[in-house]
Amino acid sequence: MPVPSISLLSIASVLFGGAAAGSDGKPQSCQAVDASILASTGTPVGEEIVHNNITMYISRPDANDVRTEPRARAGVLYLTDVFGIALNENKLLVDSFARAGYLALAPDLFSGSPAPGDINVPGFNTTEFLARHGPDVTDPVVATALAYMRDELGVELVLAPGYCFGGRYVFRFLAGDREARVDAGFAAHPSMVGDDEIEAIAGPVSVAAAENDALLTAELRSEMESLLGQTGRPYQVTLFSGTQHGFAVRADLEDAEQRFAKEEAFLQAVRWFDRFVV
Ligand SMILES: *[C@@H]1O[C@H](CO)[C@@H](O)[C@H](O)[C@H]1NC(C)=O
Ligand SMILES: *[C@@H]1O[C@H](CO)[C@@H](O)[C@H](O)[C@H]1NC(C)=O
Repeated sequence: MPVPSISLLSIASVLFGGAAAGSDGKPQSCQAVDASILASTGTPVGEEIVHNNITMYISRPDANDVRTEPRARAGVLYLTDVFGIALNENKLLVDSFARAGYLALAPDLFSGSPAPGDINVPGFNTTEFLARHGPDVTDPVVATALAYMRDELGVELVLAPGYCFGGRYVFRFLAGDREARVDAGFAAHPSMVGDDEIEAIAGPVSVAAAENDALLTAELRSEMESLLGQTGRPYQVTLFSGTQHGFAVRADLEDAEQRFAKEEAFLQAVRWFDRFVV
């Protein structure tokens, strides 16, 4: 049987699992990402700025890190769950995208009044909260942050990870005019995404789904897969056992299966974005 010809370079990259250097010494695409850049606990390192009356949490990459220079023309527009930028885990994920080499920014989607960390607290009405934060209110905030990244920060390629509530806006902002949309998206356990919003995407999207998710059930997920297939755009859908809705942000870190899933969903997003940038 003929032996398939595999270059020494690719053997090396399989053996060592890392980025193989090209002849010019630069890393080639499809680089590995070190999971240690993900922080789930600790103190955020970014800062809050206010632009057009919208608070945005920004975290900048380390200019001296080898990952930064090849990603300098791209930036991450992080779209939060209902807990917003008030939630430590959201800020830490933004910081983690910055450690992946990207300028990363998360707009406050809720004007300083996100859902409480425990949505079951008496007095919090989820239905009312979601009704107050429909696309009529949320689209303009995302659009302002996107324009800020392109026009003020000089970001050429905008990559949007979105979680739960924010996942829907990843789909919404993958549609429309080039200037008004993001270049690639990632959505973890997205909720309330309409079929029309999936059908309208004009760019690549990667999805990470939970096994147990009342908002993205197995039935809805398979419908999403089928619709994604019809868009003709690159897509990816992964499913993690032992997880619930929200796992990519708020996982029980004591639970090895959940911790793995959170890490893997983050690495999935970074690798997906790298694919269109590096
Ligand atoms: C700025 O936003 C706050 C809510 O975050 C709102 O109460 C205020 O009216 C806004 N100001 C302007 C000038 O739009
Ligand atoms: C929650 O808000 C919805 C919509 O405004 C309302 O119909 C419902 O009665 C509220 N529920 C409670 C428990 O207040």
